[in-house]
Amino acid sequence: MSKICVVGTGYVGLVTGTCLADLGNTVICLDVDAEKIARLKCGELPIYEPGLEELVKRNYEAGRLIFTTNYAEAVPEAEFAFIAVGTPQGEDGSADLKYVEMAAESIAKVLKGHTIIINKSTVPIGTGDWVASILERSLNDSSVEATFEVVSNPEFLREGSAVFDFMNPDRIVLGSTKRAAAEMVSSLYSALKSPIIITDLRTAEMIKYASNAILATRISFINEIAQICDTLGADVKVVAEGMGYDKRIGPQFLQAGIGYGGSCFPKDVKALAHMAATHNCHPQLLLAVMDINQDARRLFVQKIERKLGSVTGRRIAVWGLAFKPNTDDMREAPALDIITALVRKGAEVIVYDPVAMKNARMLLPGAVEFCNDPYTAVTEAEAVLLLTEWNEFKQVNFQKVKKLMHRLNLFDGRNLYDPEEMRRFGFNYEAIGRPDEELQDSSSFNSFRALAGILGSGPLEMSRVAKR
Ligand code: UDX
Repeated sequence: MSKICVVGTGYVGLVTGTCLADLGNTVICLDVDAEKIARLKCGELPIYEPGLEELVKRNYEAGRLIFTTNYAEAVPEAEFAFIAVGTPQGEDGSADLKYVEMAAESIAKVLKGHTIIINKSTVPIGTGDWVASILERSLNDSSVEATFEVVSNPEFLREGSAVFDFMNPDRIVLGSTKRAAAEMVSSLYSALKSPIIITDLRTAEMIKYASNAILATRISFINEIAQICDTLGADVKVVAEGMGYDKRIGPQFLQAGIGYGGSCFPKDVKALAHMAATHNCHPQLLLAVMDINQDARRLFVQKIERKLGSVTGRRIAVWGLAFKPNTDDMREAPALDIITALVRKGAEVIVYDPVAMKNARMLLPGAVEFCNDPYTAVTEAEAVLLLTEWNEFKQVNFQKVKKLMHRLNLFDGRNLYDPEEMRRFGFNYEAIGRPDEELQDSSSFNSFRALAGILGSGPLEMSRVAKR
């Protein structure tokens, strides 16, 4: 079993440190935020992540998980030092590396013997080499006798299932200039049955960006298809299902909605595009992915306005604020843009989320009203918007909702509900890329005619139109 230090107790650092402790290692988690560390020592977690609290408690009590603010306590004895600090988005879209730099410098000051420094933070291509140069410089400037190797080991943890993802990885990626160093790190994961890819530093760093970019691309792709479905009268949910059975395509990340948010996709796609542009590449696909993602939010507001007319003075309820279910994370949540737009247009917005309300209060306009349950939120409302697909909203008592609402408009931003069922309840139900049957019939007929017009009214097109 190894002695490990993890710098940074955010999502990635805390999950990584805790899970490595659970695998039997001794892990010291370090953060410069003294209040955070004090709270962690009392078993209070800075984030909501299913299963993590119990795991922290168990390993802390067993003495395998230690919390500190002191580099001199954490680093010298460690065989492995993970850097898992934040890389916030700089003003121009590039990743801001000041915390990585601070961590590398602080580690260098107290390094002892031989240590493998592992980059877990998502960092621009070339950062591994840069971290190595910071460490080298610091060591040269001091009298410290120590050696090190740098390994890139990107994380692929999803918020809300981060512990499961850590323990059941699809793959582990390790990049280094020294293969032996990467192999040493791979030994930390030997209990997890997973393919391990060992490569160079830059390739490992790129695997992380490219992985997030393709997932974001799939989401924007299906959102674009949803827009086309809306106008041509097809059902995007069935389209995605039909596509997903093709093994070359697969069903994942094809849920149309109000766009991706969170701490990773928006920041990483932007950073990759920025990296490409600064090296004279034209990242046209990435730019389109980002545009479509912003459009998804804008088009949702337009859909509401089309149905309600002006939203000024209208009471609109919102179910779900977090960027996705099972997290209290509000970073880049589509709900923020949608609610802000509605408030600016004069709507009276009442919101409810099972866990993200505390974080949302700091980010939403002052005029927004917060409620403690989904029913209070919809009372006297003229519309309800489903913005995060929490399980709780799947089990809503719609008979009760019906009695409480002033008008029965339901805008489903995540395609959570069955359109027919909602219409049976009496709702004017609008989702993403799922037009109602009437529209489906008439619009597909009209669109087909338009298409036939575009293609030229040859015998094939006309005979197909005539058959309908
Ligand atoms: C993501 C990656 O999945 C993870 O591997 C990486 O390390 C960090 O970023 P996360 O941000 O936690 O994880 O969430 P994820 O489940 O990937 O969802 C991201 C966003 O995409 C959410 O806003 C979600 O609602 C949206 N999404 C996802 C869709 O709109 N449609 C989909 O089909 C899937």
